[in-house]
Amino acid sequence: MSNQNNITSVLRETRVFHPSADFSHKAHVGSFAEYKRLWESAREDIEGFWAEQAKSLAWFKTWHTTLEWKAPHAKWFDGGLINASYNCLDRHLNNGLNNKAALIWEGEPGDTRTLTYQMLHREVCKFANALKLLGINKGDRITIYMPLVPELVIAMLACARIGAVHSVVFGGFSAEAVADRNNDAKSRLVITADGGWRRGKTVPLKANVDQAVEKSPTIEKVVVLKRTGQAIDMHPGRDLWWHELISGVGSECPAEALDSEHPLFILYTSGSTGKPKGIYHTTGGYLLGAAYTHKLVFDIRPDDVYWCTADAGWITGHTYLVYGPLANATTIVMYEGAPNHPAEDRFWEIIAKYGVTVFYTAPTAIRAFMKWGDQFPKRHDLTSLRLLGSVGEPINPEAWMWYQEVIGGGRCPIVDTWWQTETGSIMIAPLPGAVPTKPGSATFPLPGIVAEIVDKEGKEVGANEGGFLVIKKPWPSMLRTLYGDDERYQKTYWENTPGSYFTADGARRDEEGYIWIMGRVDDVLNVSGHRLSTMEVESALAQHHYVAEAAVVGKPDEIKGEGIACFVTLKSGIAATDSLKAELRDFVSKSIGALARPDEIRFTEGLPKTRSGKIMRRLLRDIASGRQTSGDTTTLEDYSVLANLRSDEE
Ligand code: WT7
Repeated sequence: MSNQNNITSVLRETRVFHPSADFSHKAHVGSFAEYKRLWESAREDIEGFWAEQAKSLAWFKTWHTTLEWKAPHAKWFDGGLINASYNCLDRHLNNGLNNKAALIWEGEPGDTRTLTYQMLHREVCKFANALKLLGINKGDRITIYMPLVPELVIAMLACARIGAVHSVVFGGFSAEAVADRNNDAKSRLVITADGGWRRGKTVPLKANVDQAVEKSPTIEKVVVLKRTGQAIDMHPGRDLWWHELISGVGSECPAEALDSEHPLFILYTSGSTGKPKGIYHTTGGYLLGAAYTHKLVFDIRPDDVYWCTADAGWITGHTYLVYGPLANATTIVMYEGAPNHPAEDRFWEIIAKYGVTVFYTAPTAIRAFMKWGDQFPKRHDLTSLRLLGSVGEPINPEAWMWYQEVIGGGRCPIVDTWWQTETGSIMIAPLPGAVPTKPGSATFPLPGIVAEIVDKEGKEVGANEGGFLVIKKPWPSMLRTLYGDDERYQKTYWENTPGSYFTADGARRDEEGYIWIMGRVDDVLNVSGHRLSTMEVESALAQHHYVAEAAVVGKPDEIKGEGIACFVTLKSGIAATDSLKAELRDFVSKSIGALARPDEIRFTEGLPKTRSGKIMRRLLRDIASGRQTSGDTTTLEDYSVLANLRSDEE
């Protein structure tokens, strides 16, 4: 197994958790046998399966061709006419759900708003009409750079309604990032706010837009929502207040019947190197992926109060805050601010206050909650919860167990959902009533998804052998291309493992077929000829009860090729001593083997992360090997972390 093509997997987890009989009994898919049957039947006839699922959406005209696959380019439901905004709104009004809460929103300062499906529909129609008044046409690109307020959802659905293509830029990004994205997409309009609230302070969104627009020649107008009331400059002739723009416009705006392959949005995601990639998603297939997976993986029922904590600036927000849940007429909770404002129990307070039943968040957040301590969730009644979700990176078993016990009260299944901006919707996850879970495993591909783990030649590897995770068959919510760069699309996703979609993630299947994601293949260490997943070493470190979080990278080593450098943050109140360093090295060596024994442990107050919570190992690699940081740092969340790490070296 020291084969360069494979990745040596050392993590072993033996705990298995079964859903309760009651949960399974009520679930959409209630047994493993039923899951298997669904998956097998889908695999036998992928197109037939998706065509059947697509009937659950409202189409203005039925498609003539389910799938046209000219590898690597897919067209799904060609000939069909559909509108995402119609599916998220009008359809439910026609079904008598006018007064069901669509969106329960809470601002960071504590202000709240609830919009029913009818109210949301009305606001979306008005804003869509306003966009038309501004001369926005079908196919025009629009940048949305807003705090997490209802108007962000309204703006997205208004674009979708008239066939304009939104490009949401996360409100935490800089002016530079906004300008880059405006220019790449050739946006005509920016929709923003004066500011937003974050940890009691305001984020200067409009000031950033002013800077960005100076460098964005295609932007004609800027629409500004008044959120914080902070002082801003309004440029006459260019800038328009949201509230003035919609005053007096009609509240009827028929949804455009759009081709199934009409673009719905572009979402930029930073590659590990180089300029951000404009992930290009279209309407019918994407919406189907969003609605189908949301219903199945979260086992959604009409009375659920569903909370996905992601910002709409990420794909998780697009698919599981907006399009999936609204297409399924779900009541969603949306919170503007930080989890630790005014105190570390804000999330638990919100869950108790609104009776949240399904909660979906990220491992990085879960580890922060663990670090803050159990006293915060213990202050609140969390018994309304029935299901928990995780997304964004592999969840280490320690965090999984904590989530299960402390947040879920031992009662709630956990769905660990693997997917990517590119995949549009969840690909690998347990159906919670059907699939027994193992802490740290995303379990099995969903019905309709054919995933395999292969070596460099594209051959499937054996049980417990690590390899590359690939997707063998096209699926409806797959990205169609990279906006403006089809060559990069082909190169990035289709050339590494010909014939399959290359995910760039390492994974293994255990003897029961469970899939264990090992992280990005570029996060792999090569120690004495063994390719080791950094995530597995991190996971081992996090099992030590003094460790809050760990990041592991390789550093040049003359003998081993790469040595293992670990950056470790400790739990509150634990002293950073040399004896603890020695103890941690032994601990890793004992739990996963001498091969993985860390060469170096460094204690740090924080780890450099992207704004979506991913550890920037590239920066740590530079530090571990004593290099100056090279490359793009625009997605780094907190620069002081980096400065502190460097000053620790002196
Ligand atoms: C990458 C995609 C998908 C929405 C959020 C991130 C990692 C994501 C998991 C998971 C292990 C995961 C992968 C993937 N990832 N979810 N449940 N277990 N790894 O979207 O920014 O496009 O990142 O995140 O490495 O390739 P993204």
